[in-house]
Amino acid sequence: MQKREEWSSKLGFILAASGSAIGLGNIWRFPYITGANGGGAFVLIYLICVFVVAFPVMIVELVIGRKAKKNPVGAFKTIAPGSKWWIIGALGVIAGFGILSYYSVVAGWTLAYIIKAVSGGLTNSSVNPAEIFNNFAKNGVLQVTYLFVFSAFTVFVVIGGIKEGIEKAAKILLPLLFILMLLLIGYVLTLPNAMNGLKFYLIPDFSKVNSHTVLMAMGQAFFSLSLGMGAMITYGSYLPSDDDLFSSAFYVTFFDTLIAILAGFIIFPALGGAPSKSGPSLVFVVLVDVFRKIPFGEIIAIVFFILMAIAALTSTVSLLEVVTSYLIDEKKIERKKAAIGAGFVIALLGIPSALSLGANKFFTKIGFLDKMDFVFGNIFLTFGGLMMCLFVAYKWGLEYFLEHLSEGCEHVGKSHFNNWLKLAIYFICPLAIAVLLLYLLITGES
Ligand code: PHE
Repeated sequence: MQKREEWSSKLGFILAASGSAIGLGNIWRFPYITGANGGGAFVLIYLICVFVVAFPVMIVELVIGRKAKKNPVGAFKTIAPGSKWWIIGALGVIAGFGILSYYSVVAGWTLAYIIKAVSGGLTNSSVNPAEIFNNFAKNGVLQVTYLFVFSAFTVFVVIGGIKEGIEKAAKILLPLLFILMLLLIGYVLTLPNAMNGLKFYLIPDFSKVNSHTVLMAMGQAFFSLSLGMGAMITYGSYLPSDDDLFSSAFYVTFFDTLIAILAGFIIFPALGGAPSKSGPSLVFVVLVDVFRKIPFGEIIAIVFFILMAIAALTSTVSLLEVVTSYLIDEKKIERKKAAIGAGFVIALLGIPSALSLGANKFFTKIGFLDKMDFVFGNIFLTFGGLMMCLFVAYKWGLEYFLEHLSEGCEHVGKSHFNNWLKLAIYFICPLAIAVLLLYLLITGES
């Protein structure tokens, strides 16, 4: 059997996994959810959710993946042969299909906006930004075209494999993303109303906080860190046996959170206060309006949408890799065929989402894209995260889990470290996630 490909170095893995985590979730979803939930107070609660609940789940996924060295389905079959736990992995692969299908639609918008920005159609137009967005959103042909174009980019990277495709793309794109973000922050902070925006973003107003805020923060933490669907199991499966998974998980969690926080440092100073309205259109409408009013707005708009496209691509690649690795390991399909086939089917599946913004009456009425985000981006991820914790706690056994984690990680065995993981995996994570899940199911809110 051919030896499983591995990342070329720890840095290579950290960049690739951070690339998965850093995406539209950070630059598009985080700012608008923060805007809708009272700014600073939400940010604080988000940070707690990330480090208390999501971080241990990240370690769990990486340990499962590295131990089994398989895709999510194969991983559960390897660690718990003869049991039904592989279904958790299968749900992860299905979530990969679901999330990628609508995520590629929004990713396609970033391409369209780069082109609009370059041609001057965004900043030099007499049409107002909301109308530009609506006209574009209800143009079915354009929506589907951009969906397929973005999917083709994703497939292209995944065909390249682990070292030459995913790792290489992340090594070039992530530093670029970081530099572009710093440049933009440097610039927006010089704008006249920047301080007002920063106040909204950084000074917590706890009067806006309720149970809903907390649960939104938790769902966002899972989505942003790519948890609950086996993306980290898959990326972990390409890690060498002696890697310190604790520090790897920490770096990825840290970078993802850093980029989300930095995205806020671009958007809120640019807005110059609390957003007038906050929703999925925050970046595509409200921000475009800002780009029109500020000096050098044309250039800033181009840079901003390139940055978003980059962030989206390193995430779509990880979503497709989950499905591709499943087809390679379990169905013995060659990488190139698997990536092209899966990419094509997923793009087809994205069509209803692409048409749900005005192009097609039926899909628009049911809000297909939002529904997909709710079912796959919330329910599937939180359920998956819960089941993975229960798997380690009650099926695999914490001792075996710790034994595997100890390879490369010197903290295992120290009583405060073991106690912390025990508390997190048996108690805090399952309980917190179960509450979130029940809430989502009962209220139907995302
Ligand atoms: N974490 C990605 C983002 O923030 C989205 C994603 C979710 C990617 C689940 C892979 C798996 O945009």
